[in-house]
Formats: sequence, C-alpha cells, structure tokens
Amino acid sequence: MKRRHFLVGTAAVIAGAAGVGVYCAQRASADYATYIRTLRRPLDPSGGIDELVRMASLAPNGHNTQPWRFAVRDRSLMIAPDFSRRTPVVDPDDHHLFVSLGAAAENAAIAGAAMGLPGEITADDAGALHYVFANGRPAASPLADAIVHRQSTRSNYDGRPADPATLAALEAAGRAEGVRLVLVTARRRMNDIRDLVVVGNDRQMADPAFIAELKSWLRFSPASAMDHGDGLYSAASGNPSLPDFLGRPAFDLVFKSKSENAKYARQIDTSAGLAIFLGDRADKPSWIKVGRAMQRFLLEATRHGVACAYVNQPVEVAALRPQLAALIGESVRPDLVIRFGYGKPLPYSPRRRVEQVFAGKQAASGQRRKVAALDRLDVGRDFFRGPVPPLQFF
Ligand SMILES: Cc1cc2nc3c(=O)[nH]c(=O)nc-3n(C[C@H](O)[C@H](O)[C@H](O)COP(=O)(O)O)c2cc1C
Repeated sequence: MKRRHFLVGTAAVIAGAAGVGVYCAQRASADYATYIRTLRRPLDPSGGIDELVRMASLAPNGHNTQPWRFAVRDRSLMIAPDFSRRTPVVDPDDHHLFVSLGAAAENAAIAGAAMGLPGEITADDAGALHYVFANGRPAASPLADAIVHRQSTRSNYDGRPADPATLAALEAAGRAEGVRLVLVTARRRMNDIRDLVVVGNDRQMADPAFIAELKSWLRFSPASAMDHGDGLYSAASGNPSLPDFLGRPAFDLVFKSKSENAKYARQIDTSAGLAIFLGDRADKPSWIKVGRAMQRFLLEATRHGVACAYVNQPVEVAALRPQLAALIGESVRPDLVIRFGYGKPLPYSPRRRVEQVFAGKQAASGQRRKVAALDRLDVGRDFFRGPVPPLQFF
C-alpha cells in the first residue's frame, strides 16, 4: 500500500471513531436528560404511595447511596435504613445515614400534606421511620413543589450576598426543637471555617480508605449513572463526563489535594454564607431531627433561588469538630456544614426507580388480610408512566 493511501486510511478511521464517540456521548446525554425529566417531573397529587416514595427518594443523602428501603402497612409508610448502603469510612457511626433518612421522611411529610395525605413522622427502636398519614384535602405547598428542583449545587457561586429577608426565611425554615442552626455570613468567620474545610479535605485525601470508598460511588458517564441509579455522577459535580474506563485513571491523575483545596476555598469565597446545623445530642433520634430541619432549610432555599452544597469536612474528620464548634461559640458536636449562595444549576444526580426501593403493599404483621384502606392509593402504579413535562430551572 502506498504511504499516502495508508495515511488517508488511518485519518479516516480516527475521524470515524471520533465521530462515533461524539455521537454516542450526545445520545447518552440526551438519554440522561430524558431520565432526569422523568425522575424530577412535578409532584402528582393523585399519585398515591408510589409518588410519596418518589418524593422521599429525591432527598439529599451521603454519597448518593440512597440508604433506604420503603414499605407500606395500613396507613403508614416505613422508611427503613439499608445498612448495605452504608459508607463506613466517611460515616463510621451512620450519622449521615440517619440524617439522610430524616431528610427522606421530611420530603414524604411535605409531599403527603400537599397530596391530601397529611401525617406525622415517628421512629422505632430499630431506626426505621414511619410516616403515619390520614385522609385530607390536597393543599398547595411551595416546599412540596421545590422537592423536584432541589439539588446539591457544587459550582462556584457569584459572590452575591443574601438579603436579610431571605436569611430570615432560611433561618425560620431550618429551626426545629432540639436543633440549632447557625448562619455565618461575616467574611472573617467564613474564612476561618473555610480554612478548617481545607484542613479536613487534606486529611481525607491523605487517607487511602477514604479515596477507595469515594471512588466506589463515582459514576463517570451518564450511562453509568443511569445504570446504577445511584452514586456521584461526575457532571453533577461540574466535572466532564467520560466512559468509566477512562474516568477512573483520569480521576487518579487530576484528583490532587492542592487543586481540590483551592476548589473548596473558591467555592466558599463565592458563597453568600454558611449554615451549620447542630443537634442537641449525638444519637440517632437527634440526627433524624437534624435531617428533617436541614431538608426544610434546603427546600426553602430552593424556593428562593438560593443554591446549596455541603462542605462537611470539619464534621466528617472527628478531630476538627471541637474547633468548628468553638468558631461559632458552640460546645456540642456540629452535624452539617452547608454553603449557600447564587449560582447556576448543574446536571441533577440520579436516583434508583421506585420499584427498586419500595417493597409495595404489606399486610399487618401475622395477618394476610388485604389492606383495604390503601386500595384508592393505586400502589402498583408504574413510575415511568405518563407524559414527561419539561424541567424548569430557577
Ligand atoms: C448527611 C449528608 C452529608 C453530605 N455530605 C456531602 C459532602 O461532604 N460533600 C458533598 O459534596 N456532598 C455531600 N452531600 C450531598 C450528597 O452527595 C448529595 O445529596 C447526593 O449526591 C445526591 O445529590 P442531590 O443532593 O443533588 O440530589 C451530603 C448529603 C447528606 C444528606
């Protein structure tokens, strides 16, 4: 073969492969957009228990492991811990897991009230939560409407401060018996907490077990995020999408303390403030309360167009907790650090489908009777049925 023919042939093969790659990437992104529009379609007040479960599942949760299972019995939705989805390195005492369950239960309660299924949340000794509901009238609820729009927005914000009325609304939303919410907006105090975030980040990144656990929950491509329905999708953290086989080595190459520390510092520098939640005790019931208060805060923020993201390093690295508490004049264990401000949304993170987390209708213990009261709730409804309205960002 002549050299010129060889070169032309090679160029054609490379161009063809690149074209196929671009086509596949575009296709996967379009599929992901459709998947998210379906997952995040507005609340359907007549959607029954499946809809309650979908709303609960949209709660934030550590590493997006979705450490929950749902079941319904009589007029109670059970939200039970799924300990197979723990993250023992970053969360050895299941603190984040129970905060996440609290957030999911709060979503169920807010959505339930909007759907005409108002109720109360209780907890049992095994750590499961129960949303016990009654029949009522559907009621318009801006917080319920915000559930599908909320996301952890891990981008830089624009540095704009929040006005006093917005801060007061956030403060009121996150207030709860047994939970303290401290809003920090003074730049000097924010800088002190930023420096602690950086110290915590350094320590976490020096821990091979932390990195291995984090990596096991990373999803580098839209296809992988959709297949798993869980985990940390790279685009939702503002990183490029890559096939998993390229994403893993690329992560090892670029994920370095220096650049990550600079990234966190910039993210806090461009935020309007930091919200620190502190439960009055370091136990499961208190963590659940913190999760519920946090979720109301996040939904109120979403409703006001305020973006939020977690910078939890000073609570995840246990040795830094007393320093963080001292910086804000507190003495109990701080539970969460959330930055807030104004910034563009990033792609949404995935969730597993309702039928993957919901065991369906169960008879009361020891009895095989039909749960007649639930018949009108259309429990077996297909999660993906129905038209897909366009998703709105705000
Ligand atoms: C208790 C708890 C701790 C979290 N800690 C962090 C964190 O330290 N860093 C972070 O980027 N996201 C953190 N998150 C956010 C989750 O990663 C996020 O909720 C999950 O990936 C789902 O994404 P979404 O919130 O956009 O729906 C935390 C969430 C919860 C509930």
